[in-house]
Amino acid sequence: MSDFPVFPPGFEFGAATSAYQIEGGTRDDGRGPSIWDTFSRRAGAVSDGTSGETACDHYHRHREDVALLADLGVSVYRFSVAWPRVQPSGSGPVNARGLDFYARLVDDLLEAGIKPVATLYHWDLPQPLEDRGGWRSRGTAERFAEYTALVAERLGDRVARWITLNEPWCSAFLGYANGEHAPGAREGTPALAAAHHLLVGHGLAMGALRAAGVREAGISLNLDRVRPATPDPADAEAALRAETQRNLMWTDPLLTGRYAPGEPDTFGELIERQDFRREGDLALVSAPMDFLGLNYYTPSTVRAAPWREPDPARRTAMDNRFEGVDHPGVRHTAMGWAVVPDALRDLLVSLRDRYGALLPPIHITENGSAEHDVPAADGIVHDADRIAYLESHLRAAAAAIADGVDLRGYTAWSLLDNFEWAFGHSRRFGLVHVDFPTGTRTPKASYHWYKAAIAASAARE
Ligand code: NOJ
Repeated sequence: MSDFPVFPPGFEFGAATSAYQIEGGTRDDGRGPSIWDTFSRRAGAVSDGTSGETACDHYHRHREDVALLADLGVSVYRFSVAWPRVQPSGSGPVNARGLDFYARLVDDLLEAGIKPVATLYHWDLPQPLEDRGGWRSRGTAERFAEYTALVAERLGDRVARWITLNEPWCSAFLGYANGEHAPGAREGTPALAAAHHLLVGHGLAMGALRAAGVREAGISLNLDRVRPATPDPADAEAALRAETQRNLMWTDPLLTGRYAPGEPDTFGELIERQDFRREGDLALVSAPMDFLGLNYYTPSTVRAAPWREPDPARRTAMDNRFEGVDHPGVRHTAMGWAVVPDALRDLLVSLRDRYGALLPPIHITENGSAEHDVPAADGIVHDADRIAYLESHLRAAAAAIADGVDLRGYTAWSLLDNFEWAFGHSRRFGLVHVDFPTGTRTPKASYHWYKAAIAASAARE
């Protein structure tokens, strides 16, 4: 570990999970149904036909998981609170037994010396709210703030850091435009309404967190480093379109209070023309955050695509004037994602360059890789590719800090193999192998490597 990059004192190393992906216990203690329970039952929605019904059974084995975190030596653990446990129908009084679970988890983490980082929305919307329009409806943003207030009132004294939404791009566009994620809708303008209402929900939740006295609050975005496939100006324009849709339509309103200006017919500009947009929304959306959470896995390379007349009903569902192309010459993970650590450094630097003083400190709230893990004869997964992935991205993070980026922490995705959404159990991101039929956890070689890396960093402080 002597050549492991040096991080500034106080830099935080962590691991992350989310509720629906690990908890199971979907009917326990009064939990209500979520859109992922419903969607997973739809034929063909999840490639291997699994669901989060049992997942890693973390709901019953969380003590074991906290012990794994403690042994790993992380200083932070990022988990998410399942809204349907706290408010089974998405509104109204709190389901005490559901919230008690998180109170116990938080107490156990604190006792183990681990800082809890709570995500309030990691995609498991209560089904009754979807039945009333889901994120297409402004009411969902309002209910989200009420739910946030209930959780913060109970846990705000012990959870120091809060993340409102995880990857709202996925919720809006995979959920309501291309239907790959719950609720599986394939719609046009309603996906834009969802994007806007997610941002409004974030702004309202920030207010609820502040009212509860929370001092560290932000959002986690999956931002993309987009590169044009060739120097052709048409590809450069395509890259700008992709970047606007993937990044700027989130970061601009959040950090500057405006949707990305200048580009006609981009999503932000389209939203400006819709009647769901209300006076004062962007002031709400741009409430100051204490950090920006960044989830990074792989960059995009895009080229211009000829305009294809879309189905009129899906007029604004997805911009089809660009398309992704493969990133040749690099390794690809089991997700088929190109491994390009330099793109993480470039992305961090480009955020600093675009937003300057408006950019709060950054935490990498997810980074990791799915690999074709197979336990060896000794029962251990010897995941050299995952180790190389983590090491190279930590190096890129350290390089960005050397470039002057105010990066405060790195949280690996994920502590456990888990329910990887539309891929079910067929993709494994864990530092710890999970045998799903029995729930047995076995740390992989990458867990031991990460543990040594964290220890080496601590020893240098
Ligand atoms: C981002 C999501 O937040 C997480 O839930 C997912 O498992 C990882 N990406 C890997 O796809």
